[in-house]
Amino acid sequence: MKTPPAEFYIDPARLKAERERIFARSWQIVGHVGQLANPGDYFTTRLGNEPLLFTNDGGTIHGFFNVCRHRAGPIAYGCGKAQRLVCRYHGWTYDLGGQLLRTMEMEGAEEFDPTQIRLQSVKVHRFGPLLLAALDPDTPPFEELYPGVRERCEPLGLERMGLPRKNRRRPGVLLLAVSEPDAEHLRRTAAVERRDSLDADNTLVRFEWFALEPLSDPQTNARWTELSRFSEEVQAEDAHICEAVQFNLHSRAYRSGPYSPKRERGVRLFHTLMQHS
Ligand code: FES
Repeated sequence: MKTPPAEFYIDPARLKAERERIFARSWQIVGHVGQLANPGDYFTTRLGNEPLLFTNDGGTIHGFFNVCRHRAGPIAYGCGKAQRLVCRYHGWTYDLGGQLLRTMEMEGAEEFDPTQIRLQSVKVHRFGPLLLAALDPDTPPFEELYPGVRERCEPLGLERMGLPRKNRRRPGVLLLAVSEPDAEHLRRTAAVERRDSLDADNTLVRFEWFALEPLSDPQTNARWTELSRFSEEVQAEDAHICEAVQFNLHSRAYRSGPYSPKRERGVRLFHTLMQHS
């Protein structure tokens, strides 16, 4: 078996199909629960090319497309705390559960019943400190789609982990590396990479470290300073090589190549699953 052909990585139609067949029908990390710690908290993000909004509605976590039901304006930007969400375009107002409460100058509109209008929701699941979402309402529950994952992650103490630091990078291609802690000071941490395909050639990578004992100020702690420096160094190396690989995938000189039986079994499995999805 050979690696997938170069078009697999650079074809916009392929990306479109993957967004539908894979990313919309699976659970993807969209944030961490600390972003919705208190009632009224909200934050926005994107999953692939979809704008999303998450709220803490009196202790219940909701997820929505950040798209107004009037003319697609944004309901919120960034993050914050609010009792109501007001669209920035014409002022339609929604509660934190997504129900439309108030509109502007809609008197006489045909077939218009505000009580029947809600923000379109996405499914939400909490996994330790992570918040996951599924765009397709028919996505099976997390435990059904990924049986045994929760049990296998239990030794990490996910439920007790917090987020000390994060950064963002925009390399030219999906990173497929899986790293394992190799030093004592990393054993009580977990690294999470979130990836959003911006287009066929660009992926936004969010790299976040979670820890069992988050520090009040990671910037002044020597352990975290070193972890941060090392993490930055590795990410910079990965981004640099990935940008070059993505550029080269457009070359007429490359079609596909062999897998290393020793190092690339995981990549091979991943590609096999994608081709059969
Ligand atoms: S698009 Fe939101 S109020 Fe018009």
